[in-house]
This record gives sequence, structure tokens and C-alpha cells, in this order.
Amino acid sequence: MNTKQSEVWKKLEKHAHESKTVHLREAFKQDDKRFDKYSINFNNMLFDYSKQRITEETMSLLLELAETSDIEKWQDKLFQGEPINHTENRSVLHTALRDFSESKLIIEGNDIKADIEIVLKKMEAFIERIHSGKWKGFTGKSINTIVNIGIGGSDLGPKMLYNALKPYHEPGLKVHFISNLDGADLAECIAKIDPETTLFTIASKTFTTLETLQNAHTARDWFLRHSHDEAAIAKHFVAISTNTKSVAEFGIDTDNMFEFWDWVGGRFSLWSAIGLPLALGIGMEHFNSLREGAFSADIHFKAQPFEKNIPVLMALLGIWNRNFLNAETLAILPYDHALSQFPDFLQQLEMESNGKSIDREGESINYDTNPVVWGATGNNGQHAFFQLLHQSNTLIPIDFIGSVNSAYSLKGHQQRLFSNMTAQAEALMHGKTEDEALEELSSEQKHLSPYKVFKGNVPSSTLLFKNITPHSLGMLVAFYEQKVFVQGAIWNLNSFDQWGVELGKKLANEVLDDIVSNDKKNMHDSSTEGLMSYFKSNFMDDIAL
Ligand code: F6P
Repeated sequence: MNTKQSEVWKKLEKHAHESKTVHLREAFKQDDKRFDKYSINFNNMLFDYSKQRITEETMSLLLELAETSDIEKWQDKLFQGEPINHTENRSVLHTALRDFSESKLIIEGNDIKADIEIVLKKMEAFIERIHSGKWKGFTGKSINTIVNIGIGGSDLGPKMLYNALKPYHEPGLKVHFISNLDGADLAECIAKIDPETTLFTIASKTFTTLETLQNAHTARDWFLRHSHDEAAIAKHFVAISTNTKSVAEFGIDTDNMFEFWDWVGGRFSLWSAIGLPLALGIGMEHFNSLREGAFSADIHFKAQPFEKNIPVLMALLGIWNRNFLNAETLAILPYDHALSQFPDFLQQLEMESNGKSIDREGESINYDTNPVVWGATGNNGQHAFFQLLHQSNTLIPIDFIGSVNSAYSLKGHQQRLFSNMTAQAEALMHGKTEDEALEELSSEQKHLSPYKVFKGNVPSSTLLFKNITPHSLGMLVAFYEQKVFVQGAIWNLNSFDQWGVELGKKLANEVLDDIVSNDKKNMHDSSTEGLMSYFKSNFMDDIAL
């Protein structure tokens, strides 16, 4: 059934049309219990969605939409490992990677929780050898530098969390993350590191990704130029992959491979061995605490009724803003420096999952799906793009993410940071009327009043943590994963494939063939031809690192 044709969708469209004139400023004035009604405390987090453009009727219709979209049925399929990634015939079981319950999970006759445990134990033992200095490099020195080479899901999650969890970093060990095919990324890193004390983790689910393999080969060549010994590779390169054959072909001893499985989607994989560079960086105990945080979010997601279920509400509010208030983008604004890379991580999680226009039955979708997700740390954003949020004609819903306490606790900073976040959310919601603007202006300045008007009515949610810890970040990431899942179910999409990234990859290989050989095989449009010819005539030889 086409979601847009459903009765409840039509009711929501009508309701959105009728409630256009309702301003959040008035909604707060009329109901002094609005915050109590539309906020939830969970563990060490407060979720406030009272500044969304909703009424009781909106919520009741959105909850009806969740019911009629069979979210519970989809949840069961997800957690039980049915192959809900139907275009690749795969289960979607990242939740099993953080399932601390005693129960087994049998998939195709195999208890996958036992497999997960084996890899976790292998990670733990490896991390212990690195941290204790027992793992030696080719000159007998211990490892003090990790370089993770991976891209997309094999980079963004671990990198974002390593950056967010600086207070938890293992002393004496630095982790670098290299993803970009642009040689600058690897060259800049290599200039700072010592081959004798560096270990590379080559992270790729498929072990076929062009960027990762190119960077990995360049890193290996650089390493061999220093070690002059192929056998030394075993001491300095480990792989994280589902593809044993390609790992062996690359020259990494498969004893030094940390396995995961095709039922873990790349953008959901940070809980698997893909989290190894993070676990090396923060220690296995903190990595487990991150997994526990996610597990607590999974329990909440499974057990709570929809009206008290944080990720279900996040999903429904996102659908309200996207499909009924027609907001084309979603801003993610962390007021916590630790979370500066969180918007980048969410871009892949949300847009690669739900940026689609074909439904589960292979039919074209005639409604909007994922908004463009973007963002930056909120306080810096205030002095860059907030003008547009406040006074343009473009509606941009916002997720504010903040923390009450900071690991750095510099005097005066945290209260001011919180005040800024909350004041921005208030100002965006409330706005400023012409009368209010006029009141503030002297008689000579009255002509400035149109410039001083803020329409307000900008919807936002706030996720406020007591502290940024591995546990709270585990919850945060899991809530967004579940939000993506619920939205995919409502939009009737497969959130777990990514066919849209294939065409560019294929054409990149064709362009490469044509620019490296003199015998051009492929036809291109005149623009591509023009760019290729400009590149070829200006390209100077490249050099080894
Ligand atoms: O190109 C997109 C993608 O396939 C992502 O889904 C994935 O996270 C990334 O590439 C990296 O893939 P891999 O881990 O197989 O190298």
C-alpha cells in the first residue's frame, strides 16, 4: 500500500494545512504544561521536543501513522534477523553486536552471538598486547601509533567517537584516521609517524573499496621502503573485513584479520570489529560501555510504547517536518565540541539509508524521503549560518545536542555554552514581532523595525546529556540508528542497501582507464571529455611517498 494513499497520511496533510497559522509562541502561552507533555527523561538524557510544531492532534495522528506502518512488526523482523535488506538478501543485525542479554540468536543454524563473542575476545587480547607493549614492531619497539585506513562506515563512526571521547584516550597511543583518496590525507599523516612504532588497521567490509585499497597499498609501499622486509608486514598491518580472500591477497596474514559479517551494514558497523581503532584508542572497557549504552537504547526502543519511545518520536517528528511542513533539510547542531564530527557521521547514517525514491516493492515513491542532513558545532554556527536560520524564508528544523557538564570544566564556559544553545532554541521558536521590535527602538531608529523582526516558529528538539561518556554516546548513536529504521519503515524503503553509490564508482574506473592509457575505450559527454583532456594535458608525474 502506498503510504501517501493511506487514510492517516491524508489526515496529516489536512491537519498540516489547517495548523499552518499556529505559532509555537502561542502554543507555549496557551499551555504551561507543554514541556511536561513533550519531553522524556531517559538514563542521563533529557529529550525535549516541545519546541516542535505539534499539537495533541498532530501527535495522535503521527502515532496512528506509526501504528498503521507496522513498526512493531518491522522491529520484530529486525531483532530476529529476518533478511529485511531484501535487495541484498541480508539480515540487519548490528543490534546483536551490542546485545548483552544471555539469549542466543540463531541465524541459519548458527548462534551469531557466539561468533560475536569470539571476535570481541580476539579484539580484547590484541588491544591488551598493544597497550601493554607486548606487541613489537619490526625493530622490537612497541606500538604507539595506529593509522586506520577506511572510508564511509569503516571510518566515520570510529573517527567521530574517538574524537568525541578524548578524555578517555589511552595514554601514549595516538590513533589517526585516513579516508580520503586525495594523497594529502595520507601524506600529511605519514610525515608525522614512525614506521617502527606504527600499526595500520585496514578497515573495509568488502575489501574492494578503491579509496581504501589505494591508501592501504601506498601505506604498505611506504612501510616496506623503511622495513625492507615483507615478513614485517604481519607486525604492522591488520585487517578488519568480511572478505578473507581479498585480505590474504593484499598480503595480510588472516590470523591478523578481525572478522565481521555481511549482516552488519557499513554505516551501522562501528559496534563490530570496525570499532577496533576506537577500542584501541579508548580501551576495551570504554568500548564495552559504549555498546552497553546502545543496548540500553535498544531495550528502550523495543519496550516503550510509541508515545514514550524516543527514537520513534524522533522519526515521527522528522516525518512531520519533512512530509507535512515540507522542510528540505535537517540541521544537527551539537553544543559540545566533542560532537563536532557527529553531523558528518549522521549524514551517512541518514542519507545513505533513506535517501531513496524506490519503495520495497520496486515502485517509484511519490513523496519526499530523507531530508538533507547537515550541521556543525552550534556555537561556531551562530557566527556563520544562524542568520539564515533566524530570518530567511527557508524552514530548517534543528536537533540541538548538548551536555550539562564538560570533561574540561573551564570556569564560566559550560554555563555560557548551555545558555547560548537554549537561548538560540528559544529565539528560533519565539521570534520577535514587529511590536516587540518597535518597542526596543528609539524614535530615530523606528525605520529599522522590519530588519529586527524574527518570524520564529522554527521547530527544534534538544537532546541534553548530563555528561558525554562512552555510555551516553552509545545511546545517542543507537537512537539515531533506530530513528532511521522507523523512518525507513514508514517511507516503505529498504534502509539497508545503497545502490545509489554504484554508478559513480563504475564511471570513476572508466575515467581512470581513459586517462592512464592512450587507447581510450569509453565514450563520455563533452563536459567529461573536456575535463579529462584538461587533466591529461596538465598532469605531471606523481611520486612515491
Ligand atoms: O560507497 C559507500 C559504501 O559502500 C558505504 O556504504 C560503506 O560504508 C563504504 O562504502 C565503505 O565500504 P567498505 O567498508 O566495504 O570499504
